[in-house]
Amino acid sequence: MPIVYDQKTGVFRLDNSAASYAFRVNEWGYLEHLYYGARIPDTDIAYLGVVTSRHSRATFIEEGIPFSRTRSYDEYAGTDCGDYLDAAITVRQADGTYAIDPRYVSHRIYNGKPALADQPATFAGESEAQTLEVLCRDVTGVEITLYYTVFNDLAVITRHTVVKNASKQPVELLRVMSACVDMPDGVGMEFLHLYGDWGKERTVERAPIAHGTISVGSICGASSAAHNPFVAFLSKDATEERGEAYGFNLVYSGDWTAIAHPDVEQSVRLLMGVNPDRFCWRLEPDETFTAPEVVMVYSENGVGGMSRTYHKLYRRHLFRSSWLGKPRPILINNWEATRFDFTGEKLLAMAKEAASLGVDMFVLDDGWFGKRDNDHCALGDWYLNEQKLGMTFRKFGEELGKLGLKFGLWFEPEMVSPDSDLARSHPEWVLHIEGRPASVSRHQWVLDMSRADVRDYLFDSISKVLSSADICYFKWDYNRYLTEVHSALLPPERQGEVRHRYVLGLYDLLDRLTKAFPYILFEGCASGGGRFDPAMLYYSPQIWTSDDTDAVERLDIQYGTTICYPPSSMGAHVSEVPNQQVKRTTPIKMRAAVAMQGTFGYELDPAKFTDEEREAVREQCKEFRKYDALLRDGELYRLVNPRETEGKRAAWMFVSEDKKAAHLTYVVAHARVMERFAVRLAGLDPEKHYREQESGTVLSGATLMRAGWVFPKRLRDNDVRILYFEAID
Ligand code: DGJ
Repeated sequence: MPIVYDQKTGVFRLDNSAASYAFRVNEWGYLEHLYYGARIPDTDIAYLGVVTSRHSRATFIEEGIPFSRTRSYDEYAGTDCGDYLDAAITVRQADGTYAIDPRYVSHRIYNGKPALADQPATFAGESEAQTLEVLCRDVTGVEITLYYTVFNDLAVITRHTVVKNASKQPVELLRVMSACVDMPDGVGMEFLHLYGDWGKERTVERAPIAHGTISVGSICGASSAAHNPFVAFLSKDATEERGEAYGFNLVYSGDWTAIAHPDVEQSVRLLMGVNPDRFCWRLEPDETFTAPEVVMVYSENGVGGMSRTYHKLYRRHLFRSSWLGKPRPILINNWEATRFDFTGEKLLAMAKEAASLGVDMFVLDDGWFGKRDNDHCALGDWYLNEQKLGMTFRKFGEELGKLGLKFGLWFEPEMVSPDSDLARSHPEWVLHIEGRPASVSRHQWVLDMSRADVRDYLFDSISKVLSSADICYFKWDYNRYLTEVHSALLPPERQGEVRHRYVLGLYDLLDRLTKAFPYILFEGCASGGGRFDPAMLYYSPQIWTSDDTDAVERLDIQYGTTICYPPSSMGAHVSEVPNQQVKRTTPIKMRAAVAMQGTFGYELDPAKFTDEEREAVREQCKEFRKYDALLRDGELYRLVNPRETEGKRAAWMFVSEDKKAAHLTYVVAHARVMERFAVRLAGLDPEKHYREQESGTVLSGATLMRAGWVFPKRLRDNDVRILYFEAID
């Protein structure tokens, strides 16, 4: 049983083979955090509670026993109760006060995992996980239910929180964190987070945790490129394959926060959830509010071990798509090749060439609808521009079909151009504040996704397009963040709900469209990878990783993305050279090797290929198909971090779960003279022998992992080696 409650000590234990998590109901009825980390066998661990009952701080005296909240480890910290770290929950009560301090009422333990109301989350069958619900109540009647799900075979615990107003008067939620974890030895650990910007998403940064609060998050209306909703606590000695890592990933696509708040000793409280900045949710009696899920992963095998657990979890328990576990098509996208300047004839010429080389799908990007000949107009006018295409969409799809290609289409559903029929006919559908100028970004405004009528319009108009031809793929773009957030349908006291309601509205539309068109492969996108989060992955098993398609830049971006997202979720394309973003020229072999780490495709005009490039692309398509299962379902080992090498190199490998096959990629973007090129492999079975396919060399897994593989010839700038190892015993 992964979850056990000991009535005598009040201790809840959540265990799987790799990790333990424990808290207890203490003598005063509060939930007190006891332990989170590597699996521990002893059950009598209540001694880990009550750090001190110092009277020097706010102290309750009940039944003669004093208890100070200041130095206890809270499982879900309230406000104005003597706990002086950041709170997990703050409520403006009906009497205008802010105090809330819930105590244990009851709990339930059951098999499986419940879905979250109106929002995405990981899922599990009855035999795959167990769930604990703990109900707590404040004296005002506000109830908080903490949910914990333990996965049986993965070191994963998911958490979320539901607040119910069981009082008789409305209250306002000012902060509802999804998870609160007091880490007793947090000071001295390191904080890893993924910061970035357009074109440099998910850059890995590690910083020591000292006695000052660290806070990362987004207030852009989207999970954002500035910070990904992922953070980790690492032991000081943690490396890629050794040491402890605690990952926290929020399944949310809007404003979020992660706060590491140290106390005056060694403990650090980690809070993660919807950003309380600009958030105020009015809860009427009997209403509930559900805070999104946090996925917590523990690893004793360094950052790499943590990443592999996330990858496996998301591959098996997150994507709600009929494409789960299936090979993904190799696609060609016309964006970088044509931008808005295309005709059906020009696109079909590209498609013909691509099909002859082995590509599976043609994706028509921005510019096919309304009067969209540039990015100044027509967003929201989701009518086919068949005049521009020079043929009907059905005919265009049929022509692609004749070439053996599937048809994919780009949309940006949440946006509207000021110069559009939609903005002219429904100005009230635009997020804006009366009397204030509505700012544009990329010449566009944002639709009020919290409104059901907006979502109905989008569902109907988009469905019509999707039914107009045999469309099998949907690229969901989002090219600006929110400003002047106000919804015309909500009263002033509810405007603090709009940002979260926007996100729930987005999920509602995604849910309706993915259910109405279950066979369509959705790919997320947000000016590149500006909304790469587990909630979007729930609907779209792949997300465009970055608009920076340069192979060298992608080494860093993809390295950071795989810290918690599966490689197969990263849209990665071979694009033209000189690269459009950085003007760098790299060989097509290198561009393909880097793109094959993710979901592979092309984004260029194949008619411009030389004969040599054409042949290379033909081989690349064959190779991707040959190794597709290994690249999609294999375990990723990051061998060389491109940000830590002299010159610039990166290496990674995929190992099959049974450890019988491995695919190694070694990329040298910038060589140093007289360098010895060697790499230690990882993840193999030390007892097995492996044959390297090209040279026929046979070495044991132990030798390959300890002594490493030495490349016989010196490698130069932009050299790539791809090696395939197969177990022979
Ligand atoms: C931004 C995306 O990241 C690009 O791939 C492309 O789809 C453009 N938008 C189209 O406007």
